[in-house]
Amino acid sequence: MDPSTPFSPPTPSSPAILLLGASRGIGLAMAGEFVRRGWTVVGTVRGQARTGLHDLADASPDRVAVESVDITQLDDLRSLRERLAGRRFDILFVNAGTTNPHPDQALAELPTEEFIRVLLTNALGPLRALEILDDLVVPAGLLGLMSSGQGSVSNNQQGGRALYRASKAALNMLMRCHAARQAGSPRSLLLLAPGWIRTELGGPDAPFSLEQTVPEIVDRILEQRGRPGLRYVDRLGATVPW
Ligand SMILES: NC(=O)c1ccc[n+]([C@@H]2O[C@H](COP(=O)([O-])OP(=O)(O)OC[C@H]3O[C@@H](n4cnc5c(N)ncnc54)[C@H](OP(=O)(O)O)[C@@H]3O)[C@@H](O)[C@H]2O)c1
Repeated sequence: MDPSTPFSPPTPSSPAILLLGASRGIGLAMAGEFVRRGWTVVGTVRGQARTGLHDLADASPDRVAVESVDITQLDDLRSLRERLAGRRFDILFVNAGTTNPHPDQALAELPTEEFIRVLLTNALGPLRALEILDDLVVPAGLLGLMSSGQGSVSNNQQGGRALYRASKAALNMLMRCHAARQAGSPRSLLLLAPGWIRTELGGPDAPFSLEQTVPEIVDRILEQRGRPGLRYVDRLGATVPW
């Protein structure tokens, strides 16, 4: 944790979320929305650079703490787990994600290292985070991952953005494996498809703003609490076909 950021441990009157990938975009807006709803947020950024999350922490020092983790780095995840030992969260949500710079590039032209980077960031990293940070979450807590409608295999009639789609489909499959291994657990498991939103990743042509969508995203996450088992839903609560 950034030692300059005061932190109040969660109390029963202030539920707590550990939110990975909260420096900007949807994750930063989610952090702000959880704070507005009275939650304590431990949000993560990458590296040491100042981000919007630091501004949020300055504005709400008793509610927001900034941590650092790169979800592609196992050692980072393990040391985050160590730094947070003894804390308990009601929700762990992995929002961090990426895409490739030329999303419709032919696979024959796609650099192999780009394939590995996107799969590592969007699929392996989030599930490793879930496994490594799992015991920081209360027994009946929620484990959530930011998926995408583009992760649906059966809805894919148009193609395009093949690597990104494949990475989110892989995320979904790894989460289904996790859920199957944990069958009977009181945990709520969520794969959320937020819709196409104007961020750096979503681009300027996306139809929806953060202001419009993030309250609905947070509504869906909170609604899923206390419902054991895995769901793959969009931000309005409709089930997305696998
Ligand atoms: N925007 C959309 O239309 C849309 C639609 C469907 C799904 N999604 C999903 O929603 C999530 C957030 O997307 P966004 O639109 O807000 O994207 P964004 O503005 O590009 O933000 C991406 C976030 O992920 C973090 N991140 C990326 N790689 C990371 C890594 N290796 N370790 C830790 N953090 C990492 C970034 O941190 P840095 O600042 O350090 O890079 C940033 O906080 C992603 O999972 C994305 O796939 C977005």
